[in-house]
Amino acid sequence: MNTYISPSILSANLSALASDLAACEAGGADNIHIDVMDGRFVPNIAFGPMIVKACKQSTKLPLCVHLMIVEPEKHLEAFAQAGADRITVHYETCPHIHRTLQTIRELGVKAGVTINPGTPVEVLTDLIGVFDMALIMSVNPGFGGQAFIQRSIERIEQLKWMLEEEGDHAIIQVDGGIDAKTISDVYAAGARDFVAGTAIFKHPEGIQAGIAALRAALPY
Ligand code: DX5
Ligand code: ZN
Repeated sequence: MNTYISPSILSANLSALASDLAACEAGGADNIHIDVMDGRFVPNIAFGPMIVKACKQSTKLPLCVHLMIVEPEKHLEAFAQAGADRITVHYETCPHIHRTLQTIRELGVKAGVTINPGTPVEVLTDLIGVFDMALIMSVNPGFGGQAFIQRSIERIEQLKWMLEEEGDHAIIQVDGGIDAKTISDVYAAGARDFVAGTAIFKHPEGIQAGIAALRAALPY
């Protein structure tokens, strides 16, 4: 099964975004992860459809938009039009999560669902089949550079079993505190898509070296 490295541009040098994106591409990244924050669901504020559009003009890599906002259903069309290839919504922000995921697919975009570290994994059971990717947050969302929450390992394993039981092939993604040390444990637990901000964009030898260090820690 494939593995995917997804650099999170929250840690990029925004004054040189195009060249950071080019380095991600040259370094063999698989996706670009774009965090959207509203200052309500999470304390921080970051990015909107205009940044997604700018990324679309600067890279051929698929753009994965992580919506950390209340009422995400109001903004799905704008992010789809801006060029999102996958949109991920938080379970905690969606009273009608099933409908929201369906709407994302109807827009021709892959649908992702994510849960905070404090939300039981079981809430995803009745959504299996309606999402293409499930993201287990391994930090509390809102900021880059936080420490990996160890309990995430068991949560990823639990989701893997749930998907296997249903014969579903949705990808398990992990986001927060992923580096060359934590990536092998989350891989072993079942994650296949690894979001990393600090470990890639703040790597002392540069972006390409950051991606290479993560890949080197994976079995293949
Ligand atoms: C956190 C964001 C992450 C963040 C990860 O709320 O969702 O995508 O950029 O940053 P690191 O890899 O530094 O933990
Ligand atoms: Zn994210």
